[in-house]
Amino acid sequence: MNVYDSARMADVLAPEGYVSTDAAYDADLVILNTCHIREKAAEKVYSELGRIRDSKEEGTMIAVAGCVAQAEGDEIMRRAPYVDIVVGPQSYHRLPKLIEDAKPAQKSKGRSRVVDTDFPAESKFDFLPAAEVHGPSAFLTIQEGCDKFCAFCVVPYTRGVEFSRPVEAVLKEARQLVADGAVELTLLGQNVNAYHGDDGGLAGLIRKLADIEGLERLRYTTSHPRDMDADLIAVHGDVPQLMPYLHLPIQSGSDAILARMNRKHGAADYLKIIDELRKVRPDIALSSDFIVGHPGETDADFEATMSLIRSVEYAQAYSFKYSKRPGTPASDMDDQIPEDVKAARLTALQTLLNEQQLAFNERTVDISMPVLFERRGKLANQIAGRSPYMQSVHVTCQNAEEADQYFGKIVPVRVTGAFANSLAGCLENEARRESTQREPARA
Ligand code: 5AD
Ligand code: SF4
Repeated sequence: MNVYDSARMADVLAPEGYVSTDAAYDADLVILNTCHIREKAAEKVYSELGRIRDSKEEGTMIAVAGCVAQAEGDEIMRRAPYVDIVVGPQSYHRLPKLIEDAKPAQKSKGRSRVVDTDFPAESKFDFLPAAEVHGPSAFLTIQEGCDKFCAFCVVPYTRGVEFSRPVEAVLKEARQLVADGAVELTLLGQNVNAYHGDDGGLAGLIRKLADIEGLERLRYTTSHPRDMDADLIAVHGDVPQLMPYLHLPIQSGSDAILARMNRKHGAADYLKIIDELRKVRPDIALSSDFIVGHPGETDADFEATMSLIRSVEYAQAYSFKYSKRPGTPASDMDDQIPEDVKAARLTALQTLLNEQQLAFNERTVDISMPVLFERRGKLANQIAGRSPYMQSVHVTCQNAEEADQYFGKIVPVRVTGAFANSLAGCLENEARRESTQREPARA
């Protein structure tokens, strides 16, 4: 979501004459787009701000955007007096005005510093210019905010209440992205499957998007188990553009902890959804988020999470130590878990998840899969892309022309090697060429 928001901020500022640069010390304006989900992410903001202050030129403006801006606007202004602008995630369409407001006083002796952390009545989406396409795979935010109030989570406070963009607005943006060269769209939302634009839900939207000529791949993230309705599960079986990969966070495998987390679903509900998904799309790859050391988590609760992981067999997953967030119910719970227990549980959990990820990758060796090539690899003539299952796939082409030819395209690739975080492969046409060349030698 922050990658998407950062790109949209660049889109808003382009008509003002701003272009992106890689080096903060070059810039007239530095925007730090921040995340408040865990304490570590939030603390990073202040160290990063210090670095920018030390390397920037006189006159460079500094803006802090995103959820730390939303949650700690005044604190930022106090701790980092050199920050000019604080702008929350619902107000960044107003950046040109905020920059103007911060500017005049800069020229005179004093400085004006502006804070905009409103939840404006207008939707920022109505004010943003058309999104720029950078590469064959694009993000599209269709939903924001969350009404679920999981006990550990700040999102409902920083991103606000659940909001869905109208179907027509989403379709228009999607058509434009495809016309500009995107072949894959990832639909984004904090609670993307709570989408309820106009009358239809996410399933209806996916069916409509699938009709767009030239749109080859669809994905969506992040989902909540409670919103995985029958129609959405069915879409995984009958819309071929919808890729066989789903990030469906469960957070914990223990019903007692899920209840304390206010998740309003149990482990069995989750496993039932997985079963149904696998019935309609047997090869679907699964991913999840896990929190270890939520207040009250016993060894037995943790073991329930490990056992759920063993039964699902994930293709990949994200896992975190519980982090106390100010203002959330879990931060006031009595039975907080000691840091060393959290650390030990995280290590055990990640060891298991890494084993499953490698095993999943190894199961795809010798298989041919369509890969969307979307970036250059580190080595000469190497291109990298994604399999349908979201695996990173690297292929070394014969020369630069061949690499150019496949860049941005979906091409059949035979997987030749599996690693923890990626696959190696060769282009199917090369694999065939090589095997016909080898045949006479074998004979
Ligand atoms: N501590 C640790 N992890 C958290 N997440 C959200 N809030 C917290 C927290 N307080 C994790 C959840 C969520 C992911 C985006 O971040 O697993 O799904
Ligand atoms: Fe946070 Fe997701 Fe729970 Fe909403 S559903 S409160 S975003 S963890």
